[in-house]
Amino acid sequence: MSRLIVVSNRVPDPRRPAAGGLATALTAALQARGGIWMGWSGECCDDDTEPQLRQRQAGAVTYAVTDLSARDHAEYYQGFANSVLWPLCHYRLGLTDYARKDAAGYWRVNRLFAGHLLPLLRKDDVLWVHDYHLLPLAAELRLHGVTNPIGFFMHIPWPAPDVFLSVPGSDALLSAMTGYDLLGFQTENDTANFAQCLARSRIARPMPGDPGRLATRQRSFRAGTFPISIDTAGFARTAEQAVRNPAMRRLQETLRGQRLILGVDRLDYSKGIPQRIEGYRRFLLDRPAFQGQVTYLQITPKSRAGVEQYEALQREIAEQAGHLAGELGRLDWAPMRYVNRSFGQSVLAGTCRMARAALVTPLRDGMNLVAKEYVAAQDPADPGVLILSRFAGAAQELDEGALLVNPYDVEAIAGALGQAMDMAPEERRERHGAMLRVLQDHTVFDWCDSFLSALSAPGAAQAAAGTA
Ligand code: G6P
Repeated sequence: MSRLIVVSNRVPDPRRPAAGGLATALTAALQARGGIWMGWSGECCDDDTEPQLRQRQAGAVTYAVTDLSARDHAEYYQGFANSVLWPLCHYRLGLTDYARKDAAGYWRVNRLFAGHLLPLLRKDDVLWVHDYHLLPLAAELRLHGVTNPIGFFMHIPWPAPDVFLSVPGSDALLSAMTGYDLLGFQTENDTANFAQCLARSRIARPMPGDPGRLATRQRSFRAGTFPISIDTAGFARTAEQAVRNPAMRRLQETLRGQRLILGVDRLDYSKGIPQRIEGYRRFLLDRPAFQGQVTYLQITPKSRAGVEQYEALQREIAEQAGHLAGELGRLDWAPMRYVNRSFGQSVLAGTCRMARAALVTPLRDGMNLVAKEYVAAQDPADPGVLILSRFAGAAQELDEGALLVNPYDVEAIAGALGQAMDMAPEERRERHGAMLRVLQDHTVFDWCDSFLSALSAPGAAQAAAGTA
């Protein structure tokens, strides 16, 4: 089997246990085939230091990481990736902050990554590039004569053409993406949006009679839908065992019989946290009998410090959480616990299992793995209720069991919370069973296998002279 080369902005630390399902699945694929995981170290160096690639071997896998100069970090990561592509792909044009120097920094870091990779590559390696930080990476590698199969997976939404094409330089990005052999997206809608962007810009068009294949004048490639998932059985096991975790026992004690309502999100404006807090507030006002009977725990690790939009959101949520505590709190009851820390898998899985309802209400999300983890963590005999945004990719698969809401509609969130609290055990079990079956039939390992076999399938890439 050919070696696998994974490239992503973040690279897991092989000295620590894999933090999530994605890292677990990719590590398993890399260990099975042998290969390299390359990306950013998470560290910055001076602008005048030439960043070197540092390699660390763990079993059959080489982890190869580079620092970014302070300027690259500001322009590529904080700038173009997180102040243009991220808000744009989450339909927040008003939050984009475009500057030509950031776009130039983005392309420069993609060239830097390509330069680090070139000497490591062997003739029959298969490459898999991840996420919006690295849209032009294949094109940079192709410029240096790399002909290996290169796949790309977009973890976040691909927006409608009118949104994507508004970013200056969108044509150059789209053209560069035709250097991949297979492009994977989370939902059919994302895949269709991407194909429409290419058609509208006259960069590539669908090839008649070959669904999923697109062609430029020079070559053809494929785009398809590969919804990401979780290690369902692994997460369920962790949740079941987490009851023995002392932190879980302490949480249970402090709840004193109150029902737990849970939210777990990076602090990000795509997650709809202010609307969600307001929805919870309305629920407490509409159904006052629940005051003192429920606790809402919002776990929100801080994210992307230094990007203005994130700092503003942090202030907004802290203020809102404070207002709620002041308005409805009692001497012996706080309606909400707001925590800006990250926790390990065991605490997260255990907290999910304890929660009677989860609020997963992003305004837009590629997939949202918390929704899937919440389902996997439940006790099937007494499961909780998932309240899920219809704009999360996960809603495409979990629609039979979740209470789907429009995350902009705070009254709908309040209503869903009421419905979740009133729901009879039989209905909860039925809904949970429907969702769990989906997750048991489609794990992150299946996702990884299906993408890699599609990438290695004969004809994944074809010279397409004369087809356009
Ligand atoms: C999302 C993106 C990932 C990213 C993660 C954390 O899930 O799809 O690519 O790594 O957020 O964001 P950060 O900027 O801290 O890497």
